[in-house]
Amino acid sequence: MGFPEHRMRRLRSSAAMRRLVRETALSVDDLVYPLFVRNGRGLKEPIASMAGCYRFSADTVAAEAAEVAALGIPAVLLFGVGGEKDEIGSEAWAPDGAVQTAIHEIRNECSDLLIMTDVCLCAYTETGHCGAVVDGVVENDRTCELLAKMAVSHARTGADVVAPSDMMDGRVGAIRKALEEEGLQDTAIMSYAAKYASAFYGPFRDAAESAPSFGDRKTYQMDPANSDEAMREIALDVEEGADIVTVKPALCFLDVVYRAKQEFGLPVAAYYVSGEYMMLHAAARAGLLDLEQGMMESLTAIKRAGADIIITYFAKDAARLLKA
Ligand code: PBG
Repeated sequence: MGFPEHRMRRLRSSAAMRRLVRETALSVDDLVYPLFVRNGRGLKEPIASMAGCYRFSADTVAAEAAEVAALGIPAVLLFGVGGEKDEIGSEAWAPDGAVQTAIHEIRNECSDLLIMTDVCLCAYTETGHCGAVVDGVVENDRTCELLAKMAVSHARTGADVVAPSDMMDGRVGAIRKALEEEGLQDTAIMSYAAKYASAFYGPFRDAAESAPSFGDRKTYQMDPANSDEAMREIALDVEEGADIVTVKPALCFLDVVYRAKQEFGLPVAAYYVSGEYMMLHAAARAGLLDLEQGMMESLTAIKRAGADIIITYFAKDAARLLKA
């Protein structure tokens, strides 16, 4: 039977009816808010390339984290920026590094907030690459050892979740093994299992001062043309001990989010990255669309595709809107 027995518009007739039949509900419980931290005191530097985002020092980030927690957002994801740089990124596992100090401060201020940390060397290496470079090549196995040191340092300091975003082969296994050996077996790993070599990281590289000084990241990050390969990446990370798998970026890769959820059935995160965020801001600023509506449509679409967790610079704005 078709028309006129069926009229699809009946279920769209009022706001109440639309609420009743809505299939996907975005919740504040789904959100993770990224925070940038650097060495220093009293800092809250606006990031020119990312609207409404700041680089904090450890002493100021705790107040920001408290605000995030008060909005009901369950987790923050910490990125260290602008530290000392050397060949292997040693600052990444310094006990008094920006991230380590921030973990202490946030933990003291907000006991219930989940603390996640990005595990990657690009903000700490002279080359801006995500690993140790020898003769122009990012060395996979050596980098895994360094990442494991970094993850252990974060976990020991009190991170609940470590999030490797480097895309080296075997790094999840190396991190899991190192955590186990250090008695940190309860630390969760949220791996960026399917992270693509994307143009949409542009604003972030500015924020984190982590752009590669030569070449690009295509020898370790994935080709945007591939999704079977993403399933292999995820299978390997799960086997190596990942608890949550992340697809990144989000909007150009919703099919990958969908497949990941369907095929693995474990918690899937999607990272709505800096370029996606700023694309909306730029369009709204130009008067081309409504920012709030665009934000909610994007976040709902990511959830509809199958993401359980959405990492987004919009987390605070969305939480406020969901509360209202
Ligand atoms: C580091 C890292 C990047 C992002 C998160 N972790 C940048 C990159 O791979 O160049 C991007 C996040 C964003 O754009 O919001 N490896």
